[in-house]
Formats: sequence, structure tokens, C-alpha cells
Amino acid sequence: MTSLVIRRPDDWHLHLRDETALRAVLPFTASRFARAIVMPNLKPPVTTTDLALAYRRRILAALPPGVSFEPLMTLYLTDETAPAEIERAKASGAVHGCKLYPAGATTHSDAGVTDVRHIDAALERMAELSMVLQVHGEVTDPQVDVFDREARFIDEVLAPLTERHRSLRVVFEHITTRAAVQFVSTAPAGIAATVTPQHLLMNRNALFAGGLRPHHYCLPVLKAEADRAALLSAVAGGSTRFFLGTDSAPHARSAKEAAYGCAGIFCAHAGIELYAEAFEAAGALDKLEAFASFHGADFYGLPRNAGTLTLKKEPWTVPENYPFGAAELVPLRAGESIAWRVTAAGTA
Ligand code: DOR
Ligand code: ZN
Repeated sequence: MTSLVIRRPDDWHLHLRDETALRAVLPFTASRFARAIVMPNLKPPVTTTDLALAYRRRILAALPPGVSFEPLMTLYLTDETAPAEIERAKASGAVHGCKLYPAGATTHSDAGVTDVRHIDAALERMAELSMVLQVHGEVTDPQVDVFDREARFIDEVLAPLTERHRSLRVVFEHITTRAAVQFVSTAPAGIAATVTPQHLLMNRNALFAGGLRPHHYCLPVLKAEADRAALLSAVAGGSTRFFLGTDSAPHARSAKEAAYGCAGIFCAHAGIELYAEAFEAAGALDKLEAFASFHGADFYGLPRNAGTLTLKKEPWTVPENYPFGAAELVPLRAGESIAWRVTAAGTA
């Protein structure tokens, strides 16, 4: 297959940042995806409906003229999130979920939840209002091996949480392990997962290939080949529980290439093309459309998009960097080739 026309896709996990960074990265997403679930880990975090609505307005104002794109907002849960805030979020119609960052798990998560028991009341209200919980699934105990943190989170936090809140709809974000594939595949119907292109295409060897590779560092960190293979066969199998979420997470080059380099891979410049490569490698290009354009919308209870996106198998070379406000942004595959390109995108 050298050409592929799919229904217009959505990105169910995205970091857009703010101000000049937002203006730099938003066009990459908006030219491919009709909608995106926008992560709330700004500094300070988006903890209230008012903050989410204001952020939404800044995103819409940053769109290039004539481009239509719908940001689907999220709230950042803290130990203090009140059930009344969940009600306001739901009533706004613009907030589509709440994100659980275990405090200290990742970039800008220091204001996150210190113990999930602290948010039980908020989760109960979310379940009642059918609001989705998005979970960064890693334990934060520094004694736990960094490669084991997702699997430990399933046993210690996520499984008990879903037992306590049986009707809560949960997206286990950016899963990286065979254990997570197993958990989601066998969980009750309201539990799903997003999968990133980086975790489908790379294993942890990519962190050290030819030297230390900060631009391949994200959280949860890349895992072993057996984990990558499990993710790929999960998405290639076509289960409705798995859907597209790039976790594109831009940081300035100087913040990545540093003694304490930030976690986050920028992939929005090829946010669908990279998935096409992964699905093609798995012999499952016929499953890409549902993964990218149907499963997420159906899970969130939103209509599937009208319009289409056309991909062609025409290799192109990714620039070494993109402008990022006054700084530089190094994209995934910088200076290397990507096999697929987007040739047309339409809204209807
Ligand atoms: O690698 C990551 N980067 N993982 C996250 O969970 C957050 C993200 C970011 O915001 O940079
Ligand atoms: Zn993320």
C-alpha cells in the first residue's frame, strides 16, 4: 500500500505548552488532527475550570488563520480538588477529563496527587458525571527501579483504584509495558489506554544508541523490546481499548541537552506519519484508521470526525530543528527519514 485515506484523526494525549511555545507547536497538530486532549501540566498547572477555559481561549487564539481545531481540555488533579470543581468542569462542556499525576512522577507534576486516597471524593463525582480519568501510571518511590515503575503502579495503585471506582472511565496514558497491555486487555469495559509512536517504534536501546540520547528520553521511559513488541501487537490486533495519543512533549534543546535533561519527546511534526510506519511494520495498516480516528472518539463519547486525511508512502527528511519561541526544538528523527507523509487534510 502506498497511499492511505483515513477519517480525520484525533490526538488523545498532547502537550501544547503556552505562549510562544504554544504558537510554535500548535500548527503541527492542527494540520493533522481535528481535536486533541490537552494536558494540564502548565506552570502553574490547570487546576480549575476557569483556568482550563482561559487556556482553551489562548489555544484557539494561537491557531493559524483559517485552521479549525478543537482543544479538549483537562483538569490537573491535586490533593485538594473538590467534587464541586468536577461539577463545574463537566458543566463547562469544554473539559473532557481530569489528569492524575502522582506527585513527582514527571515534568511539572510536583503539585500532583500525593496519595490517590486523597482524591476518592473527586473520583466518585467523576464516575457519577461520566468524566474520564487520565492516568500517568508510574509509582514515584525513588527506590523502585525506573523500568518497573509502571508495572508496580498497576498492582499498587491502578488495580485497587479501578476496584474502588467500578464505574469510573479511565485512560491509562502512554502505556509502555507488556504488563499494561495485559491489564488493559483484561480490564472491564470502561478502561482504555493511549499508546505513543515513540513507544511503538523504539525500545530502551534507543536511549544509548551511539551515545547518550536525551531526545529519546521521556516518561514513562522507553522499555525493553518485549514490551515494545507487546504494545505493537496490541494496537495491530485492533482492540477498541487502545487509541492514539502522541504525548508530544516539546522542550527547548537547551533543556534536553543538559546535565538534568527534561523528559519529553517532540513528535507532533510527524504525529500520524510515525504511527503509519509502526502499523506498516506490523502488517496492520488496515488497523490504523480505527486506532487513530474511531476508538478514542467512541471512548470519550464524542462524534467521529467528518473529513479525511491522506497519507502517502513518500519518504521525507525531518529538519534538524524547528523554531521554538527564541529557542530551538529538536524533533523525533531529526535529520533522519520518515517513510510516510501527509498530503491532504480536510474538515469535511
Ligand atoms: O516525557 C514526558 N514529558 N512525560 C510526561 O509525563 C510529561 C511530559 C512533559 O510535559 O514534558
Ligand atoms: Zn504526557
